[in-house]
This record gives sequence, structure tokens and C-alpha cells, in this order.
Amino acid sequence: MKLLHVVGNRPHFVKFALLHREAKKHKALTHKLVHTGQHYDFGLSGVFFRDLSLPQPDHNLGVGSSTHAIQTGEALQRLDVVLAEERPDVVVVYGDTNSTLAGALAARKRGVPVAHVEAGLREHTWRAEELNRRLTDYCGTFLFCPTRKAEENLRDEGVPHQRVFLTGDITYDAYLEAAKHVAGKRVESVPAEFILVTIHRAEAVDHPDTLREVMRSLEILPLPVVFPVHPRTEKALRAGLLWNGMAANPRVELREPVGYFEFLTLLQQAALVVTDSGGVIKEAFYARKPCVTVDYTNEYMEIYETGAGILAGRSAEGIARAAERLIEYDCSRIDPASIFGDGCAATRMARVLARGGDAVAEDA
Ligand code: UD1
Ligand code: UDP
Repeated sequence: MKLLHVVGNRPHFVKFALLHREAKKHKALTHKLVHTGQHYDFGLSGVFFRDLSLPQPDHNLGVGSSTHAIQTGEALQRLDVVLAEERPDVVVVYGDTNSTLAGALAARKRGVPVAHVEAGLREHTWRAEELNRRLTDYCGTFLFCPTRKAEENLRDEGVPHQRVFLTGDITYDAYLEAAKHVAGKRVESVPAEFILVTIHRAEAVDHPDTLREVMRSLEILPLPVVFPVHPRTEKALRAGLLWNGMAANPRVELREPVGYFEFLTLLQQAALVVTDSGGVIKEAFYARKPCVTVDYTNEYMEIYETGAGILAGRSAEGIARAAERLIEYDCSRIDPASIFGDGCAATRMARVLARGGDAVAEDA
């Protein structure tokens, strides 16, 4: 059975690495890789291919940056051509982004079954990521749920049970493996104690007043800050004339985005994490670090119920207060497996896909 994997964004590359490795153990599965080109800078794309030893994509669609409609539409059109040429049995998409929606829609429009890694997550908003998730789930034949809550969401929405697979979270598999790789390593050029920050979501970055407020929070956090800056955020900071002031602040260290292993090394050194990234929120939890979420809602509400995370919103004082509260939080009793599975999600997904012939035939 031929799988066509569609990736496009930084977090996809990590998930693909795990699933590809496990799926290669099944001789009945063959693989083609499509990179939509949604992320194209080396720091958001090439560094992951290098560090995770990923195969070069069979197709790079080069869609680049644009409005949501144009980006999704370009990927959809270019994927249609690839699908006609490759004729895969299943298209695998990796969650949340415009590249994922384009992959799911292009496949379904040609009657090709879709496997959705990270299915069933809901934050009950109208944001781009939520729309992408819901529409992708609607297209999906193999819905791989990272959490019990995700499985429950799909059941509540009436999705037929034979499409739903509770696998655990593939990013937890990835983390467990990467943690062995970075154990004992250190990034030397950082303060002895610091807060690791990432901010890139449209809701925090695109509105100048909100961005200014979120950035003000970094100046009043209880420890110095190390902040690898997503290019979207850098552009907004420069456009809002905030970049130079922040770069001159001795308590805030702005960095280029770093590779996956370097990021996890920084994470294991950090005292606390402040972020709006769904992936980083989970990784903080896996690494047993307290985490302030710069948002009002999230698709992983289970984390906040443990006490190790706070949804702080986007006011500077709210973020700083949450950081003060969490900085001494004892995370030793956090059990990531209780929410995110046993670290064998990729193995389960590969097994389902390898014996997926019946479901594929039914769905065609
Ligand atoms: C996208 C996803 C988001 C995900 C994130 C992962 C959507 C709607 N959003 O957000 O869910 O959390 O990826 O990181 O799909 N840019 C560059 N270089 C690049 C890529 C982007 O400079 O290689 C800049 C461009 O100015 C672009 C902006 O970043 O306009 C936003 O990029 P885009 O791919 O639209 O969304 P992300 O913010 O990366
Ligand atoms: N990440 C990275 N370098 C960075 C920041 C993040 O490698 O400078 C990794 C992080 O470890 C996680 C993923 O990127 O695996 C999360 O991506 P992002 O925050 O862009 O997207 P989201 O998870 O919000 O979709």
C-alpha cells in the first residue's frame, strides 16, 4: 500500500520522522513525501530534515507564505497534480495547519482515504487551526487520536467508531526518544536560570497592541528570558518598531529559531516556559516544566487540570502573575502518560495503516 505523506510545517517534520520510521518496518507499506513549502526558511524546515535525518521530499510544492485562502488553494491545486501522478492508497496529514487541510481535501476530492495524525482535538473557536482540524477530521478514514478527550470529541460528533483510533500522542514518542539524545547536554550561552519563551500564533502576533502587551510581559517576568523568535513574530516586532528595544534589553535574549534537539536542550535547562504553541505546551509537560500559556483556551485542557499549566490570556500582568505562581511549582508528580499515552503512538498508527486495506477498500 502506497502512503503519501503531506508535511509543510515545523511540527509536522517531527511527527513524520516517527511515523515514517515505524511504518518502514511494514514491508507492505511504501512511502512518498510531499513538502508543501508552507515553511521554507532553514530554521523552520531544513534544520529538521538535517537533524532528524529525514529523506528529501519527493515533491516540494513551494507554496510559501500568503493569505490562508491563497496558501491553502495553491497547496490544493499543486497536490492535485501530485495525486494524479502518484496515485497513493492513503494520504497522511499531520495536523492543524493549512498544509494539512489542503492535503486532506485534495485527497478526498480524488477519493483517496486520509489518515489524520492528531485527530479529534478541539478548542471550540473559529480559529484557522480549529477549522483545519475539523474539516480534516471530516475527510478522514483513519483518525489517530492523541488523547482520550480527542477520541471522546469525535464520538460526541457522531464519527463512526471504525474510523477512530486512540493511539496516544506521537509527539510524546518523539520527545521520549529525543530526551535520551539531549540528556546531559547543555546550551552554554544562556543565563543560569531563565524562562524559555515562544510566541507565534496569529492571535498574539498580528494585532500590534496585543503584541506590544505580550512583549511587555517578558520585561516583568521573574527571570531573564530566552526567546527563539518565529519569523512571523520577528517581522511583526520589526514592523511595530519593538525589535530594537527588545534586543537592547539585557533581560531578554532574542534568538533565531533553533533546531528540535537544541530546543529540547533549552527546555530541559529552563525554569519555566511561556508560550502560545500547542506543541511546546505539550513538550513542557513531557519535560515536567511548569508552563504559562499565552492564550485563553487550548486543545489540551487536561494539562491545566493537573496544576502544571495556567491559561494566562494575553495581558502583561496576567502572564507575569501566572509565571510568579508557577515558577516554584513542583512538577515531579506529573505523569505525561496519563494523558498522552505510552510513547508507542507511531507503532500503533503504522500497524493500523499496514492492515488498513479493508477500510481503504470500503472507503474508495
Ligand atoms: C503555521 C500554522 C500554525 C502552526 C505553525 C507551526 C496555519 C494557519 N498556521 O503558522 O497552526 O502553529 O505553522 O509553526 O497553517 N514565514 C517565514 N518563513 C517561513 C515561514 C513563514 O518568514 O519559512 C513568515 C511569513 O512572513 C509568513 C508568516 O511567517 O507570512 C506566517 O507563516 P504561516 O506559514 O502562514 O503561518 P505560521 O505562523 O508559521
Ligand atoms: N521548536 C523548535 N525550535 C524552536 C521552537 C520550537 O524546534 O525554536 C519545535 C518544538 O520543539 C516543537 C515544535 O517546534 O516540537 C512546535 O512548533 P510550533 O510552536 O511552531 O507549532 P505548534 O506546535 O504551535 O503548531
